[in-house]
Order: sequence, then structure tokens, then C-alpha cells
Amino acid sequence: MKIIRTRADLRAATAAWRQAGESIGVVPTMGALHEGHLSLVTAAKSTADRVIVTLFVNPRQFNNAADLAAYPRTETSDAEKLGPFAVDVLYIPDPDQMYPKGFATTVSVGGLDQGLCGAHRPGHFDGVATVVTKLFIQTDADAAFFGEKDFQQLQIVRTLARDLDLHIRVIGCPTVREADGFALSSRNVRLGSKARADAPGLYRALQAAAARINAGDPVADVIGAARAAILAAGYTEVEYLELRSEDGLEPLTAPRTPARLLVAAWIDGVRLIDNIRL
Ligand code: PAF
Repeated sequence: MKIIRTRADLRAATAAWRQAGESIGVVPTMGALHEGHLSLVTAAKSTADRVIVTLFVNPRQFNNAADLAAYPRTETSDAEKLGPFAVDVLYIPDPDQMYPKGFATTVSVGGLDQGLCGAHRPGHFDGVATVVTKLFIQTDADAAFFGEKDFQQLQIVRTLARDLDLHIRVIGCPTVREADGFALSSRNVRLGSKARADAPGLYRALQAAAARINAGDPVADVIGAARAAILAAGYTEVEYLELRSEDGLEPLTAPRTPARLLVAAWIDGVRLIDNIRL
């Protein structure tokens, strides 16, 4: 695996692959890699001839400086984790490769960024959309792999690729969970042992709520009960818990398929998100 830090070196690698008629898959990450990321790499390896993993802690998608400073930087262990996967390139752009002096453009996907995480993290999805667009262009990839855990992000990325006529397939991959159902996330390491033991209550509440909605119980009642169950499980706040359509993420008061129940909740000072398909 070659580590590349500049656009010019990346372009040289991708141009050679293109000349040889090879396809390219990209897995965008901010590092702190876990099994969820590695499942995306496996999907990319089974789809494309060449695979690029990108590692860039994108300042534009953080709401506050302390959060950005606290984000784990684990470049060496990330590279080691990728070792067995025979990834072709680990692209770790220097900040000036992404945002050179005078950088003035923002990619903003209207509508889909309203509500859910967008309501609680102003500007976050503009930062994501801008960096992802740049990574798609810089890597010249045919396919990009994202986890369904960040479902709003996935739908925003799908939309920007379609709207901007980018020749890239955006592929959503299933959320990877621990044996107790807890969704993998780079933030999980910040949980104390009690919070870690309580954390699966979030997914259990989603599963129970999805089953009740599928059985015909009124959505508002089910959501109220699920909120209470999440708090009873040890969470301190439920930021949102909503039923939305999959495609346009429209709020739903009655079930329609495909739909998702999406949640963000706080435990032990850590904000966690998850979702389940109905
Ligand atoms: O999901 C993430 O890790 C980030 O939002 C992404 C897609 C790599 C953009 O910085």
C-alpha cells in the first residue's frame, strides 16, 4: 500500500490505472478505523480493480474547534489495520491539498440537510458535501463506499453525485454491529464501562419500535415509548427519534416502505447515532 499526500502524486497513480483500463473504488474516512470501515474496504475490493482509502480529518464538518482538536488521529495504526486488505493507496492529503489559500466554494445539498443531524450540527453537511465532492474528483473513482449508519450523510452524498453529474456509483453498506447490537463508531472508545454496557439499549429500542410500527401501532405512540426506553436504558438525552422515508428523508407519521427510524442520543457525554430500516 502506497501512502500518497498530494493531488499530483494521486493523479499520477490514477492516470496509470486508467490507462490500463482498471476501475477505481474509494472509501472516504476520517481515520480512527474500525471494523465498520474495514467492511467498506472489503466491499470496495470485491467491486473495483484498484482501491483508495482516504484519510482526512475534515475541519469544515466540525461545529466547534474543541471537537475537531479532540478527534482521534491514529494514522500509523490506521495504516497497519489496512495492511491485510491489500489496498492500493492510502491518500492522506495535506490540508492545503484540500483547502488551499483562497478556497471559496461550498457544496450544499438543499432539503436533505434539514432536520435530523442537520438541525443539531449547523454547517456539518455542507462540510461533508464539499470534502466528498473534492475526494470524488481527486480520486477519479468509479464507486464510493459509505456506511448506512450515517444514513442522512449517505443520502446527501448520493444526491450530490446525481445532481453534479459525477460519474461515480455511491454504494451504501450495512452498519456493522457488536454481538450485542451496538453499532460500531469511532466515538465508542470514549464511553466508560457502564455506558458501554448500557449503550446497546439504543438499538434494542429501535428494533422494538420498528416491530411495533410494522405491526400497525400508531407511530407517535411508538416513538414516545421508544424515547422513554432509551432514557431508561441509561441515555441522558434523545436528540431526535424520527420516522423518515428513505429516498427524500421526508418525515412520516404513518409507515411507508422503504422507511427508516433514525435516532441521535447522548450517553456519558458522547453523541451516538443509529437507524433501522422498516
Ligand atoms: O463519515 C465520515 O467519516 C466523514 O463524514 C467523511 C465521509 C469521510 C467525510 O469527511
